[in-house]
Amino acid sequence: MKNIVVLISGSGSNLQAIIDATANNPHCRVVGVLSNKESAFGLERARKAGIETAAIDHTQFDSRLDFDNALIKQIDLWQADLVVLAGFMRILTDQFVQHYSGRLLNIHPSLLPKYKGTNTHQRALDAGDTEHGCTVHFVSEELDGGAAIIQAATPIEQRDDVDSLIKKVHQLEHKIYPIAVSWFASNRITLNGDRVYLDGSPLGETGYIYRA
Ligand code: GRF
Repeated sequence: MKNIVVLISGSGSNLQAIIDATANNPHCRVVGVLSNKESAFGLERARKAGIETAAIDHTQFDSRLDFDNALIKQIDLWQADLVVLAGFMRILTDQFVQHYSGRLLNIHPSLLPKYKGTNTHQRALDAGDTEHGCTVHFVSEELDGGAAIIQAATPIEQRDDVDSLIKKVHQLEHKIYPIAVSWFASNRITLNGDRVYLDGSPLGETGYIYRA
């Protein structure tokens, strides 16, 4: 049984999708949810599901490293096998990333390697792209630069704007994040160097392509 800890800062809709999907999974369970914001709605979702929560306010720390060390202390208390970033809006230090190397996942709202960083939906629209989407990836020291596990795309239509795209991509996020978590929990994915293997076969730069 693998222990999952989820880090959030906001609504936690991805957290909810993972809670729902793991409820009947014999290989894993969400043991703790950690937020840098006491008011994050995701903490409410966790409490409702009977999951332990903690809030660690980053503004109370002198440095990123002090904050990250406080996070590590709490995450390790929960004996996490897997750490899942789900809308956690703090940049993590290299020390944190290395501590959880090979067991730290993030979801990014773009078809990586396109559009690392912020404003991904607007950037896809501005570029006149015909599709947009999201990617679950292992976290490396490079921002949004770790090896991709699974990716899902949605067409960009004439009538789409940032809000409609956010909605469409969110729906895909809720599908692929639980898949990536369950693959990890049942030892189907491994990270070797900067390459991800699914059931022993290497995945390409975009990870496994999810089809609805
Ligand atoms: C998602 O859009 C995700 O791609 C990004 O943060 C957002 C979190 O949304 N990393 P929610 O809190 O899970 O609803």
